Amino acid sequence: MKVLVTGGAGFIGSAFVRLLIGETSYRVVNLDKLTYAGNLENLRSVESSDRYRIVEGDICDWHLVESLLAREKPDAIVHFAAESHVDRSILSPEPVIRTNVFGTFTLLEAARRAGIGRFVHVSTDEVYGSLEPPQQATEEYPLNTSSPYSASKGGSDLLARSYFVTYQMPVMITRASNNYGPFQFPEKLIPLMISNALENRPLPVYGDGMQVRDWLYVDDHCRGVLAVLNQGRAGEIYNLGGNRSLPNIEVVRKILALTGRPEDLIQHVTDRPGHDRRYSLSSQKLMSETGWRPETEFETGLRRTIEWYRANAAWVAHVRSGEYRAYYERNYGGRATLRQESV
Ligand code: NAD
Ligand code: TYD
Repeated sequence: MKVLVTGGAGFIGSAFVRLLIGETSYRVVNLDKLTYAGNLENLRSVESSDRYRIVEGDICDWHLVESLLAREKPDAIVHFAAESHVDRSILSPEPVIRTNVFGTFTLLEAARRAGIGRFVHVSTDEVYGSLEPPQQATEEYPLNTSSPYSASKGGSDLLARSYFVTYQMPVMITRASNNYGPFQFPEKLIPLMISNALENRPLPVYGDGMQVRDWLYVDDHCRGVLAVLNQGRAGEIYNLGGNRSLPNIEVVRKILALTGRPEDLIQHVTDRPGHDRRYSLSSQKLMSETGWRPETEFETGLRRTIEWYRANAAWVAHVRSGEYRAYYERNYGGRATLRQESV
């Protein structure tokens, strides 16, 4: 089995590549543009494997994708490549729409013409939008997107589904909840808060911090995607949740406790525009069809993640040395600090 993985130099894609090389006999071709979020250091443990190779390129580049499929003849595609951050999508929506919508279309169309046997499109619970408690989204729940990022993922999900309905292409869609773990770029909540805490810098919590997310350890997510690749039914959507919902402020407090830092590092700042209050989803379908379940308990995964960031300060310094500082200033520089009584 040969798998074309897109976005395999990013956070989740690289964990998936490490899983395929480490625990299966599959061959992997990794197509990645190496944007700010793509990092070859994430793939050091597999780069010398003769079952692995990387192609640097853009999923929006038709000629590159078409010739790559003709040359490599993969049996399956697992599509992770995306602009994946909500805050960046608010500041600059264009690359998000281009990669997530047009890039997904390019891959689907090239895969259809090449007759690819299986196509797993990796998506997110954010496409269901904000849910009132105690609601949980099943796969039938309507799409209700809020940010340019979630809208781009919802749009690409619909495109992926249309390739099954119209062309009977064997497409499967996975929708996972918020991931955390080693190698995550420090722009998302958990790695940003860990790396700021370790450096005794303020922890910027948006608004009151009572927004709820369901946390899934990255390796559990990857095992779920592998289960869908191997056992998923064509045309189906599969939710993958961590079964651990927490308000952001609790996650931040846990990080402070585990890093031994004081709570006065917390700084409530102006909320994200269009901020979804609560995500929640049911993964019953994938669990009953494949036996998959999230195995890593949140406190265990969080401890492991903090240890990884402590031990990999050089990795953090490297990924922050590029355009990160300009992004940080653009996203956080203009936010007011909220007084305790107003949050
Ligand atoms: P990431 O930002 O860490 O990595 C994205 C990767 O895609 C990078 O290696 C980047 O170089 C590559 N890429 C970006 N644009 C590209 C292009 N035009 N052509 C080729 N490669 C390109 O993202 P992630 O957090 O690993 O997320 C991976 C996938 O999982 C995304 O589709 C995302 O929507 C989805 N997802 C993420 C989460 C999460 O919590 N991070 C949760 C659910 C679903
Ligand atoms: P994030 O990791 O960006 O994931 P998503 O927006 O895709 O869920 O954010 C997770 C939650 O943490 C979300 O409610 C926004 C919040 N958040 C902050 O409060 N401060 C921050 O600096 C960041 C990056 C996120």
